[in-house]
Amino acid sequence: MKRLLLIAVLLCATTFSAVADKGMWLPSLIASRIKDMKAKGFKLSAEDIYSINKASLKDAVVLFDGGCTGEIVSEKGLLLTNHHCGYDAIQALSTVEHDYLTNGFWAKSISEELPCPGLKVHILVRMEEVTERIAAGESAKEIIAKAEAEGIGYKAKVESMYYGNIHYLFIYREFSDVRLVGTPPSAIGKFGADNDNWIWPRHTGDFSVFRIYANEANEPAEYSAQNKPYKPARHFKVSTAGVKEGDFTMIYGFPGNTQEYITSDAVRYISELSDPTKIALRTERLNIIGAAQATSPKIRLQYAAKHANIANAWKKWQGEVKGINRLGTVDKKLAYEERFRRDNPDKAYLLDSLAAAYERNKEGYFNYELYSETIRGIELQQVVTIAFADAPIEKKMAAAELFYKDFVMDVDRKLAIAMLTEYEAKGTFISPELKSLFNMHGGAKGYAEWLYDNTKLGSLEGFSVEAAMNDPMTEFVMALQPILKRIRPYTYRNFSNIPDIERWFRPYVKALMEWDTKRAFFPDANLTLRVAYGKVAGYEYADGEYHLPQTTLEGIMEKDNPEIYDYNIPQSLRDVYATKDYGRWGVTMNGKYTVPVCFIATNHTTGGNSGSPVLNGNGELIGINFDRTWLSTMSDIEFDETLCRNIICDIRYVLFVMDKVGGAGWLIEEMGL
Ligand code: ARG
Ligand code: ASP
Repeated sequence: MKRLLLIAVLLCATTFSAVADKGMWLPSLIASRIKDMKAKGFKLSAEDIYSINKASLKDAVVLFDGGCTGEIVSEKGLLLTNHHCGYDAIQALSTVEHDYLTNGFWAKSISEELPCPGLKVHILVRMEEVTERIAAGESAKEIIAKAEAEGIGYKAKVESMYYGNIHYLFIYREFSDVRLVGTPPSAIGKFGADNDNWIWPRHTGDFSVFRIYANEANEPAEYSAQNKPYKPARHFKVSTAGVKEGDFTMIYGFPGNTQEYITSDAVRYISELSDPTKIALRTERLNIIGAAQATSPKIRLQYAAKHANIANAWKKWQGEVKGINRLGTVDKKLAYEERFRRDNPDKAYLLDSLAAAYERNKEGYFNYELYSETIRGIELQQVVTIAFADAPIEKKMAAAELFYKDFVMDVDRKLAIAMLTEYEAKGTFISPELKSLFNMHGGAKGYAEWLYDNTKLGSLEGFSVEAAMNDPMTEFVMALQPILKRIRPYTYRNFSNIPDIERWFRPYVKALMEWDTKRAFFPDANLTLRVAYGKVAGYEYADGEYHLPQTTLEGIMEKDNPEIYDYNIPQSLRDVYATKDYGRWGVTMNGKYTVPVCFIATNHTTGGNSGSPVLNGNGELIGINFDRTWLSTMSDIEFDETLCRNIICDIRYVLFVMDKVGGAGWLIEEMGL
């Protein structure tokens, strides 16, 4: 009996570790995961997810604006993504008279949809492995050129997986006529803003609605009034049945960047040097910007998007450091590396070579990161770039106007003083030119003060190409050029992607795959299409504190506060709440008649997965992914199923807002509901 129990425990343990909800899988290879997916509740086949022979779910997923994901939900190219993904487009369409960011926007019919110049979406036509073609001497450039000649609007990319061990070709259709259909006001789409960012429980209605247009022949085309709504090969069916703890969930989207296989040295660089340095520098910048914002509503608006951008990674890195320390990632990696050495004495030199390569490149990579977080944040240098750009003068003036609209000289002056002081203290790649400027004014601080006292480029009135010629700001930018040249060899996505390091990763990861046959190796995220799956699940947030997986309208009403900008919901939402007229979106939950808002699941996601469709076992849309919890941001380095949760906007809240706040019932009909 005891022995049987032991066997059962062992079996459980092995099956558990073999099927952890971890990984971001290539859709064309999903057949290798389908057994596990089915065991967890997926009802469709690998061919339903990705096929080159028939329409499949992949035809309904888009890369949105080059860095987010979106999903097609009607046969007329209706597209859902996050509010924070559509934000730039919505802001660009907003004016004082038509402030769509603040008030929201809902087209009443197709003819009222608003073109978004510059906004593009990409839909994957197919992906194929080209490792052999590359090995045979074909260049990525040649492969791309051949692929792009295959069809109208085709854009191709060759991406490497597993640090260059494998290469894939991705062919997309690029659509550049994309129009805004609707967006909730920021008080819903950005509810909770930076306070609630990376936080669960969450109540953000982070969605916006667009539509893809195509020409008469349903092909990609530049904007034209004659274009017609794009007819997709496949669109997602929406399910309003709702979710409960334990339900299967699948994410189909474009995760941007993970570093699953880096060694202990690289993790230590991140958790002990890189993240803490960047967090401290951003704290300074946020304090300066925040203090200025508190003095004037105008500055609050001017710096809103900048502040949100700086704060997003700032908060993420703090969670990441905590997570890495909590999980003991460095020690785990060290132990894993020790086992690798013991089992593969002939390959142990790979780890030594990696360690040496990290050491060799550390100063350069740190200086690159330091530059990005200090000097690059000084905004006024941008007008020098504008002044000397190779462009007609009207274009330059338009760019300058756009720049000064959201620029406050005194804020930038303070930023420059603080950031140049930091750079002087921490940087080791300071150019002799910059050093001598510092010296002439008693150091970085004195120089920054002098620079901002003497530049004439602080306002649109003072700006001209002639003024820029002799301006000290131009002298400053010139003094930066040698630094830029010195950091250029290190400007890669991650520390480990520097070629001098990556060339050791290639054989190391290959050796890992041959040695650690029980580990399920997924290629690190690189903004290519992936599938992740898991389940709806709450989690133990802290000792004795369990977080339920679903939030409701009740939580929004508890947070609602007209005094606090980020929690001041639209009156229309208060009115609906007062009447409890939720229509078909109302549910009884925890004993209350309410509306579901957000839920969490165990899907392995990262930046770029924002806007991704979240699907149930039947491949139907149950929500829109938009964030992770603070305790999970280390999942880019180590994913832990017990802690890591992605945050999803429940599709029923999306529909409720469209219907009851936006009055856009016609879209709900279009989705076939
Ligand atoms: N944390 C989410 C992500 O990384 C949402 C970011 C948008 N919100 C913000 N306050 N910046 O993209
Ligand atoms: N919020 C992220 C995004 O915009 C998603 C994440 O990091 O979980 O892509």
